[in-house]
Parts: sequence; C-alpha cells; structure tokens
Amino acid sequence: MSQGSKRAKRTLVVEDPSETRCLGRLLGERLQGGEIILLAGALGAGKTTMVQGIAAGLGIQEPVKSPSFVLERIYRGRLVLHHFDFYRLTQEDVIEAGLLYDIDDSAVVAIEWPERAGEALPGWTLKVGIHFHEECLDPGSVKSENKRRITLESTDARWVEVIETIGRHTSKRI
Ligand SMILES: Nc1ncnc2c1ncn2[C@@H]1O[C@H](COP(=O)(O)OP(=O)(O)OP(=O)(O)O)[C@@H](O)[C@H]1O
Ligand SMILES: [Mg+2]
Repeated sequence: MSQGSKRAKRTLVVEDPSETRCLGRLLGERLQGGEIILLAGALGAGKTTMVQGIAAGLGIQEPVKSPSFVLERIYRGRLVLHHFDFYRLTQEDVIEAGLLYDIDDSAVVAIEWPERAGEALPGWTLKVGIHFHEECLDPGSVKSENKRRITLESTDARWVEVIETIGRHTSKRI
C-alpha cells in the first residue's frame, strides 16, 4: 500500500436480514472481478446472509448456502464467485489444501472466518465486519434482535469511493 493512500471505513446499522442482503446486493452490483472480500463476525452474525446479497448483485440465481462443511462453493453469474468458510481450518490447512491457488483473476472471492487463514490470507479488497448490535445483547430488547452493525473497510481506490457513497446515502442510520 503506497503511503498516503486513502482508506475508507464506515459503520452502518441494519434492522433485519433483508437489509443485510440489500447492502450485499449493492456491493455485488459494483464488483468487477478480482476482488477478495473478507467477512468477519461471530457465529450467526450474518456473513452467509451478506454473501447471499453479494451473489444477487452478481446475478447469481442459485440459492447460496453456507460452505462451512464443504469449505468452498462456486457460483456462476455475471462473474464467478468462490465462497469459502475457513471456520474449521487452520493456517496450515489453508496452505496445504491450496484452497486459494488457481482462482481465476476475473473471479470474486468471499471468505468467511478469514482470520483462520492467518498469514495464508491473500491481499484483500474489501473487509466486511458484522456485529450483533448492543441492543441485541440486551435481554429486554426483543424487537431489535435482528439489528446488526456492519463495518465496510477498504484501501482500494474504487472501493473507497463505493464505501463513501454507500455511507453518505445511509448516514441517517449510522
Ligand atoms: N440483520 C441481520 N443480518 C443477517 N442475518 C440476520 C439478521 N438478523 C437476523 N439474522 C439471522 O441470523 C442468521 C445469520 O446466519 P448466517 O448463516 O448468515 O450467519 P454466519 O455469520 O454466516 O454464521 P456462521 O459463522 O455460522 O457461518 C440467519 O438466521 C439470519 O436470518
Ligand atoms: Mg456462514
């Protein structure tokens, strides 16, 4: 990363899974190929749900299911999407299985539990963090159990712009 390069980081609040998918779709529509998207967040935070939206934005018709038992699922739409889940893996597993080799430069890669890959992690384009909203953790707050804080982060010039635009349009909800 060159010195002085821009970084964008925005946190949005979504109310339910359909809003997470909607944000994913906005991102998916802007993918050009070659991007690596890292999705961080606790079990059940909504990473696969976000990838469902990203896939919709790529025009993928097939239903997107969690890859946690098969490690990788591949979908074809406007671009090819490689969807990984590293939850059950270690850094050595990722390297030994060669999971991230031989992926076409024009494809998009989405990785759940990327932290499991440690140093085997490729350079990323976009980081998505999904967090249970504080209100979800309040036992008295039944209404907001579907609320999430979603952080989008990038240093890639094009994605910095995308994030800033999305952040501006949704700023009232941050
Ligand atoms: N705002 C929200 N965004 C996303 N999912 C939500 C939201 N509110 C509730 N949910 C529900 O939470 C669950 C999220 O499941 P999902 O498989 O996407 O999580 P995940 O982060 O991929 O988990 P895992 O780490 O096990 O792979 C779904 O049942 C979804 O309907
Ligand atoms: Mg998942």
